[in-house]
Amino acid sequence: MSQQLIVTSLYNSKFVGRFLALIRDTPSLSHQGSVIATSVATLAAILFTWQQLKSSRKQHALSGIPVPKDPRTLVGHMLVLGHLPTTFHKWHQELCPIFRFKLGAKDVIVLGSPSVNQDLLGTHGKFTSSRPERFAIHDFGQKNLRGIVNGVPHDKTWSTLRKSVLNVMGPRRLKEESPALCKEADEFVDQVVNGKNIDPLVPLMRVSLNFIFLTLFSIRTESLEDPVYKKCTYIITNFMRLTDPKKAALSQIPGIRLLDPIFGNQKDISSFLQNICQPFFKTLIENGLDAGRSNMAKALNDELNQGKRGNYNNLYHTINDMVIAGTDTTAVTITFGFLQISTMPDIQKKIQQEIDAFVNKNEFAVTHAASEDFEWLGMLIPKDTWFMPNNMEAHMDPVKYPNPEEFKPERFLGQEDTMGSSANRKAQDRDQFNFGWGRRVCVGSHLAETQMFNIWIRVLSRCNIMPALDKNGNEIPESLETVEVISGPIVVSPAPFQIRFVPRNKV
Ligand code: HEM
Repeated sequence: MSQQLIVTSLYNSKFVGRFLALIRDTPSLSHQGSVIATSVATLAAILFTWQQLKSSRKQHALSGIPVPKDPRTLVGHMLVLGHLPTTFHKWHQELCPIFRFKLGAKDVIVLGSPSVNQDLLGTHGKFTSSRPERFAIHDFGQKNLRGIVNGVPHDKTWSTLRKSVLNVMGPRRLKEESPALCKEADEFVDQVVNGKNIDPLVPLMRVSLNFIFLTLFSIRTESLEDPVYKKCTYIITNFMRLTDPKKAALSQIPGIRLLDPIFGNQKDISSFLQNICQPFFKTLIENGLDAGRSNMAKALNDELNQGKRGNYNNLYHTINDMVIAGTDTTAVTITFGFLQISTMPDIQKKIQQEIDAFVNKNEFAVTHAASEDFEWLGMLIPKDTWFMPNNMEAHMDPVKYPNPEEFKPERFLGQEDTMGSSANRKAQDRDQFNFGWGRRVCVGSHLAETQMFNIWIRVLSRCNIMPALDKNGNEIPESLETVEVISGPIVVSPAPFQIRFVPRNKV
């Protein structure tokens, strides 16, 4: 705010003027009294001005960002949110690639354009890389520990954790792990390549978990019946249920927050983390530390506990983050791809030709929050504003992706970057935005990409992905249009559907 504006508003304050006139026109006031009175008046003027400025700043805050016209109630736009991807798409169409809505009293900015997302979350990442306070789950042995997903950049532990994890999840380290990871992909193909109807998401969840378990603890699960697999899926499902961001959003409604201690589920979360997750992760960490090879449990324990054994309170959050953030994200991404391609034999053929040639020659978000007030394009973005990158919309940008509705995998030909390194470039140089934005970009992108690459290459080199058959032997073609989507707390997944993996020489 310019000095001139402050001076003008001081001058304009009727209250100060009247107060000063009173002092001037009252002869009985002693000199000392008038000095005191003048000081009080000045103080009052400053306070008054500060309040005026605050409220005028508040009025201008976010003023350039459009708000949907849909009716707003005490709970903000919560009652008109409906199916989020559809509602957000409608609002993007009606307003612009960036809009805001109210979740209770909270302002949430939805970002659906690569260049705007890059500017706000990348260039202004200093201010926009925090996480919403309400999503933080503090209870995992020690109150002030938050792990990676909920850690905040000004917290040194977060950057230490992120660095260690990136180190273990980096391309060099994953290359060492490559034979074991390829074996997982081969086992998946062995399991499904029988021409029978199958929902691929189920076995893919175990493949994803095994990729993470191998990297974290140097162990794997043997089957869907393996007790370790069953326990882990129980933990993932219940963690998602208990920490659903919609519940956190609900607590943004004025009044409801006050009832949180009575009706909120923070107690259930604490008990779940302490009694179910912690003992399970402790056993897995011990397994990792006993293993004869390097893994993330060892790296983190060396870094944070100087290799000492017994107390892993400072590791649990991060281990939990990896398991939760890394399992269904990758499994669902691959499953959507299989669904999409199951009715496109021509595209499969093209990919297979390339794989065959290659194999013959070789052998093979999450919501951000503003950590402080800052100015963006001349308007104030207040501390604690939430930013929701809408990646679905960003991938529909017609400038970056001409005819975005069309499935054209060849549009990515010529992109030599790995997905992981592309994720760390500026929006205009990125091929896709699935791994998020700015300082919080996904730490598991290399692992996810390794898994997706291994699975796709192995599946398409050995099978054709085809529609399921009904009992009369007729094909039931499924696509993104026919299979419903389920919006989960972290990912949008396909409702159960079936396809077939038919051995290539049997078609
Ligand atoms: C296709 C698979 C995956 C996708 C699409 C994906 C996507 C994302 C996205 C969008 C974010 C948020 C970035 C932001 O805040 O802007 C994220 C963060 C994160 N991801 Fe992934 N992810 C995938 C796989 C994985 C895997 C395999 C792991 C670990 C084993 C992982 C671990 C994490 C962690 C720990 C964060 C939080 C980073 C931070 O807040 O600093 N992700 N991911």
